[in-house]
Amino acid sequence: MNDEPDQYAKLLADLDAQAAHRFLRTIGSHQEAHITLKGRRMLCFGSNNYLGLAGHPHVRAAVRNAVEQWGWGAGASRLVTGHMEPHAQLEQILADFKKTEATLILPTGYQANLAAIRALAGRGDVLFLDKLNHASIIDAARGSGAIVRVFPHRDYRKLERLLERSSGTRRRVIVTDTLFSMDGDFADLPRLVELKHRYTAHLCVDEAHATGVFGETGRGLAEMMGVEEDIDVVVGTLSKALGGIGGFIAASQSFIDWVINTAGSFIYTTAIPPAACAAAAAALELVINEPWRREKLLRMANDLGMALRARGFDTSGSTSQIVPVILGDNEVALRLSHHLEENGILAPAIRPPTVPRGRARLRISLTAEHEEADIEHLLNALGASGPP
Ligand SMILES: Cc1ncc(COP(=O)(O)O)c(C=O)c1O
Repeated sequence: MNDEPDQYAKLLADLDAQAAHRFLRTIGSHQEAHITLKGRRMLCFGSNNYLGLAGHPHVRAAVRNAVEQWGWGAGASRLVTGHMEPHAQLEQILADFKKTEATLILPTGYQANLAAIRALAGRGDVLFLDKLNHASIIDAARGSGAIVRVFPHRDYRKLERLLERSSGTRRRVIVTDTLFSMDGDFADLPRLVELKHRYTAHLCVDEAHATGVFGETGRGLAEMMGVEEDIDVVVGTLSKALGGIGGFIAASQSFIDWVINTAGSFIYTTAIPPAACAAAAAALELVINEPWRREKLLRMANDLGMALRARGFDTSGSTSQIVPVILGDNEVALRLSHHLEENGILAPAIRPPTVPRGRARLRISLTAEHEEADIEHLLNALGASGPP
């Protein structure tokens, strides 16, 4: 290393001064509503394991069987020798589930966004992004060579003005999270579909947090809002409600073939272990066969949001299992998170740059494994008197 080591100590001290220094916490149990932290059993409100499938016996059994049959590693990238039967099977299962012509699995949702967005837009094209889109969308856009236009969160009038001003460009692509990961609110997909048609744009949506949770059959918010057929490209992940690892793109066969032939984040990386595909397939069976999980989750989330607002907390525009408690200042968010930890509750403080400056928060996320008593415990620990 060329830099003096104390350069980093100084940079980290600057982060400390802004209450922005982040540390890893080591969890000593598997992922459930209760986890073990520093040897202590805690109630967890910080995970994306929304349906409680990360440690589900059906998923574990699928992994054990797959490891017996296929071993652990895939050994190579998909285009070399890493594309195995479990990958092909899962892609077919996902295409059937999502009702699309084809799907493609990538090692993470992050890489799926890189691949999809860079396949959609490059030099001479324009990408239109919601300001609160996930970091993987922003990173994908930045490296794409396309012109990037960012509109304020859910400000579709502004988006329309940007679209009007961009006539004459080669391809226009609107990209949005469907369920925003830090605010728990929804994109207005019917409005975006209308704009897409009016301005002959393409529409790419990221259903990372909605897959398995929203829609009659758990396909996501596009299903719930009845607009699936109008969306060109869907990105999803196997890592949140499905409880495992991996991302996917659902689109036409020709788009998927184009991604396979051009996307660096697909071509130059090792395939996920075949057992991870088996885990996702087993998790999807539970999504399909056990709708009570998403129903219970959303019922509890609705009750929690109402109770928090009644106590004077700002839950932003949340209408989902992601319920932020907006606190503004980093220190205040850290203090409340520590207070909860003392009361046996893990609800990490989320600070900039993950959220905008002055919008630090606790991001409370629920799972179908939580019970009413857990919500009561959280509300009591937050204090009946309202925000700090
Ligand atoms: C909206 C959104 N898209 C994509 C991702 C990336 O997914 P993965 O964790 O599978 O890489 C995340 C992860 O937090 C996300 O919130």
